[in-house]
Amino acid sequence: MPVSQNSCIFAYIKTVKKMQNFHELLLTRRSIRKYTDEPISGEDVKTILEAGLMAPSSKRKMPWHFIVVEDKAMLAQLSQCRDAGAGPIANAALAIIVTVDMTVSEAWVEDGSIAAVLMQLQAHDLGLGSCWIQLRNRSLGDEATEDLVREMLEIPDNMAILCAVTIGHKDEVRKPFDEEKMLWEKVHIAKW
Ligand SMILES: Cc1cc2nc3c(=O)[nH]c(=O)nc-3n(C[C@H](O)[C@H](O)[C@H](O)COP(=O)(O)O)c2cc1C
Repeated sequence: MPVSQNSCIFAYIKTVKKMQNFHELLLTRRSIRKYTDEPISGEDVKTILEAGLMAPSSKRKMPWHFIVVEDKAMLAQLSQCRDAGAGPIANAALAIIVTVDMTVSEAWVEDGSIAAVLMQLQAHDLGLGSCWIQLRNRSLGDEATEDLVREMLEIPDNMAILCAVTIGHKDEVRKPFDEEKMLWEKVHIAKW
């Protein structure tokens, strides 16, 4: 079989494997906090970042900037920037620090959050694990986590630092969302 035909088949298999019903994607996405040592391919990193760069934003201001951190020592340092809860950064293949320009959009929290979640969903669709690690309004002792991360990554003062989206090949299995536990009582029809 000619090489070109072969690579067509591989591309097809990859597409079929990746393609899943969107609801299925939402049901099976869980926060993954344990990762193998396997690096993430450049192609996958690009696809994940594209998901962030395509995110809807208020008035199409696109006020976010993403910082991709892959250096192991820096990941370890970032994981220590909070009293607790940032541990998964240390063993991730990479972390995408989501920063948002507060001077560009009054809806900066929303804009940054949507971009972060879309990158998580894209990572999941690629078969990768991810976790949102909160950096905004968190602290290490008396020091604000944002101040520590700002200094470390030389982030300008106008940029809020929302979260780190950790990405890695999964080293844990999580059950899908339990549909029995969907809080339908939180849905109100017409009035509260
Ligand atoms: C705004 C926000 C902040 C979060 N902060 C952290 C965090 O700092 N550390 C962490 O391990 N997980 C964090 N998470 C992940 C949540 O703990 C997780 O989404 C939640 O427990 C539901 O689990 P699931 O994602 O596996 O469905 C955060 C999620 C969100 C949306």
